[in-house]
Amino acid sequence: MSTTSLNPPLPPVELRQLVGPTQDHYYDNPTGQMVFPEIPPQAYDFVFDWGCGCGRIARQLLQQNPPPRRYMGADLHRGMIEWCRRNLSPHAKDFEFHHQDVRNLGLNPAGRAEVLPFPAPDAAVTLFLAWSVFTHVNEAAAVFYLRELGRVLHPEGIAITTWFLFDKTEFPMMQEFQNALFINDVDPTNAVIFDKSWLRRTAGLAGLTLSRIDPPAVRGFHWKIYLRKAGPGALHAEFPPDAAAHGVQRPPLMPADADRLGLDNDQEK
Ligand SMILES: C[S@@+](CC[C@H](N)C(=O)[O-])C[C@H]1O[C@@H](n2cnc3c(N)ncnc32)[C@H](O)[C@@H]1O
Repeated sequence: MSTTSLNPPLPPVELRQLVGPTQDHYYDNPTGQMVFPEIPPQAYDFVFDWGCGCGRIARQLLQQNPPPRRYMGADLHRGMIEWCRRNLSPHAKDFEFHHQDVRNLGLNPAGRAEVLPFPAPDAAVTLFLAWSVFTHVNEAAAVFYLRELGRVLHPEGIAITTWFLFDKTEFPMMQEFQNALFINDVDPTNAVIFDKSWLRRTAGLAGLTLSRIDPPAVRGFHWKIYLRKAGPGALHAEFPPDAAAHGVQRPPLMPADADRLGLDNDQEK
C-alpha cells in the first residue's frame, strides 16, 4: 500500500464533540487505505456525504490513495461546514461542502426548513454516505431523505448508512403511522430508533433495496445498511440477529452554544 503525505488539519475538539468520536484516529487515514474496502474502487467516483459534520470521513477520503474524483459534503451545522471549507477544501479542489439550512434544536435552531433536497443531481452519486445521520432525523424527514437518496443514487451506486433499529411487533401500542422511538423528550433527534419493517417498506417505495445488512458491533447500536437501486426482482437482504455484546454508546448532548461553534469568529484550537 502506498502512503500519502497529505495531512490536512484536524478539526478542533469542540467540533468533534458535536458529532461523537473525538480521538484523532477516527479522522485519520495515514496509510491512504480505501476507507470502505468492501466496495469497488469505481464507487468512489462521486461521493455524497450527507451529514458530513466536521469532515471526519472527508478527511479520511482526502488522504485515501486515490481520493474520490469528486466529493460533496452537506450538513445543517454552519460552523462545521465553514471549518471544512476553510481547512479541507484547500487540499483538494474537487471537495466541496454545502450548508443546508435545516432546523435542528441544538445545531441549527434558526434553520429555515424542516428538510431540504440534497444538492446533488439526479442519478449522479456513486457512493452515498449517511454515517450516524438517519439516527438523528424524525420519521417524516427519514421518508423524505430516503426518497432523495433514490433520486440522487446512480443506477450502479451504493449507499452506506447507519441506523438504530427495533422491532415494532414488540410494541403493540404503536399506531400505523408511528414507526420511530426516541430517547430524548427535549430534542427527539438526539437519537431516533426506526422499525425494521418500516425501513424495508420505505426504502422499497423510494426505489431502493437493502442489499447488505451488518449487525451492530455493540448490541442495539449502529446497524450498517447498504442500499442500492432496486432492479427488477431485487429482494431485500435479511436482518441478521443482533448478537453483539451489550455496551454503552451515548449520543452527544449539545452545549448551549453548539450552533455557534466553528464560525469564523471563533478561536480555533
Ligand atoms: C452524529 S453526527 C455524524 C457526523 C459524520 N457523519 C461523522 O460520521 O462524523 C450527525 C451529523 O448529521 C448532521 N445532520 C443531522 N440531520 C441533518 C439533516 N437533516 N441535514 C443535514 N445534516 C444533518 C448533524 O449536523 C451532524 O453533523
